[in-house]
Amino acid sequence: MAFLDKHAILEKSPTLLLVSSLLVVSIGGIVEIAPLFWLENTIEEVEGVRPYSPLELTGRDIYVREGCYLCHSQMIRPMRDEVERYGHYSLAAESMYDHPFQWGSKRTGPDVARVGGRYSDAWHVEHLKDPQSVVPESIMPKYEFLAETRIEPTQIKALLNTHRLVGVPYDDDMLDNAVADFYAQANPDSDYDDMLERYPGAAVANFDGQKDLTEMDALVAYLQVLGTMVDFSTFTPEASR
Ligand code: HEC
Repeated sequence: MAFLDKHAILEKSPTLLLVSSLLVVSIGGIVEIAPLFWLENTIEEVEGVRPYSPLELTGRDIYVREGCYLCHSQMIRPMRDEVERYGHYSLAAESMYDHPFQWGSKRTGPDVARVGGRYSDAWHVEHLKDPQSVVPESIMPKYEFLAETRIEPTQIKALLNTHRLVGVPYDDDMLDNAVADFYAQANPDSDYDDMLERYPGAAVANFDGQKDLTEMDALVAYLQVLGTMVDFSTFTPEASR
């Protein structure tokens, strides 16, 4: 009993209680969090997941800038209603190269984690310019200015390099060809084979149908890759192998 009585000392001194609580909480925190930094397999690697192409990455920045995540999540939860509506539940590996991740928690609009390939480029352009023209009851805002804003890859190498600094495996080849790949993806008449070798499965198209390369091209390139990297007809989760 004498030992437990010592607790009275703690309870009578707010400072001591605060310091001791902090100590206890930090030990608990370190024990839970620290191993994640050293574990080899915090995120199970999944075949097909690759870093974003320069154009997709640019489109992703526009998605973040415009706050699309305020209405759209990018995480399909493993529940029946979600899987039936959106497709296979999201894997951690599918957002391992997302900095910051776009899981989101608000679904004013549908989840877009697997929207890639579901609609044509033309549909996306129409929808982004004037959502109500294709979905009359839509409350999504209009983004027609994206098709009027030209983009140039002046910062693209630095952007890829920044992502490399935080762990995305962009190699020197990808950095050196960032500008060329950026243009190649938006031009179906170009020699885009090398680009596709670096970024398998990337959609090559003049996305918005205009001569100029615009923010619309980049954003649609990004939307079209969402959820398409993993081939779910052959995928089996490691746990069930
Ligand atoms: C105010 C909330 C809101 C914002 C902001 C918003 N959306 Fe939407 N979005 C919606 C709603 C609601 C729908 C469903 C109706 C429709 O298709 O227009 C939708 C539908 C979509 C769809 C079709 C999804 C599907 O599976 O049918 C895409 C793609 C999309 N939005 C992309 C975007 C992008 C990209 C942005 C940012 C540039 C954006 N949205 C910003 C509300 C929003």
